Amino acid sequence: MRGRFSPKGLTEVEEMNHRGVRRAVDLRSDTVTRPSPEMRRAMMVAEVGDDVYGEDPTVNRLQARAAALFEREAALFVPTGTMANQIAVHLHTRPGQEAIVEVRSHLFNLEMGMAAAFSGCQFRPVEAPSGRLSWALVEPALRLQDPYNKARTGLVVLENTHNLAGGIVTSAAACQHLCDELHRREVPVHLDGARIFNAAAALDLPVTQLTTPFDSLMFCLSKGLGAPAGSLLLGSTEFIHQARIVRKMLGGGMRQAGVLAAAGLVALESGPGRLAQDHALARHLAAGLASIAGVSVALDQVATNIVIGDVGQTEFTAPAVVAKLAERNVLASALDGRRIRFVTHCDVDQTQCDEALFALRAVIERQ
Ligand SMILES: Cc1ncc(COP(=O)(O)O)c(C=O)c1O
Repeated sequence: MRGRFSPKGLTEVEEMNHRGVRRAVDLRSDTVTRPSPEMRRAMMVAEVGDDVYGEDPTVNRLQARAAALFEREAALFVPTGTMANQIAVHLHTRPGQEAIVEVRSHLFNLEMGMAAAFSGCQFRPVEAPSGRLSWALVEPALRLQDPYNKARTGLVVLENTHNLAGGIVTSAAACQHLCDELHRREVPVHLDGARIFNAAAALDLPVTQLTTPFDSLMFCLSKGLGAPAGSLLLGSTEFIHQARIVRKMLGGGMRQAGVLAAAGLVALESGPGRLAQDHALARHLAAGLASIAGVSVALDQVATNIVIGDVGQTEFTAPAVVAKLAERNVLASALDGRRIRFVTHCDVDQTQCDEALFALRAVIERQ
């Protein structure tokens, strides 16, 4: 393949990636997208240097663009959202402290226990029935007194949109209130904004209205924005200077990372504007799911690109349905015994969602 990767050969690569190898309707996640032809072209011509020396012009451009967009002093390009979150935990907390998180948060559930392993930080999970962490829920979990017995709260993390809660959105007012109260008590707040552009699109707000109150934030280029890899961590100049050190500790210094940053720049410019389409598609999918006997969906909670269907009233478990869907070239994720997650993104359209609905109906109705 390598020999064919030339400006002319791109058509062939485009063909392969956008038609030839597409075998399934893949609704498992918005991370499954393939780089667009525009991204591939940008990657091919990207100017690069050694980013560990701070000398990759494309990475520097992406970081400057992200910092400007979010009105922050500085930004750092990191390979993954997980690394960005873990750097934030490491910098905001001291070993033996707690971080308050929502019980279904990515940090608590899907980051390999790394806050404990790398930062000596334990989580205090708080259950927010709607998935929206609020001051009212966080306040009783705070541990700021009794230094002789209790691990002190060193950090609170809010996830917006909230992935495992079904892509739900926390409002700008709730974010502001939570941060104001915590700052009054000198507790920093980090935003896991892996899908913050989805939240901004759903609320039709500039993204800064959802991010400004937080001490630090991360967002992913590799989810709804469609880039092949990469996330940005944002904060003050000093925070990002320290973050660069921790990124290196974690093995995240990527050298000529400009090839990835180039795709990230395209994603940042063209990605946010099309997220409303993913959300409309998710609503279409949700309505279709709800029309299948035995499948229930909380339609009023489908705010972004994630739909969770409950198959508990059918004769099948969620893993069984997912396995049968896969036989019909439709991919989705079983969250537990009864819930299935479907995620829309730039590589699926309404025809494919209709194919997925057709397959699901056939599975449930044993056709
Ligand atoms: C809310 C949230 N935070 C963080 C991450 C981690 O991102 P990555 O997969 O790039 O490590 C994800 C990934 O799906 C996520 O959904």
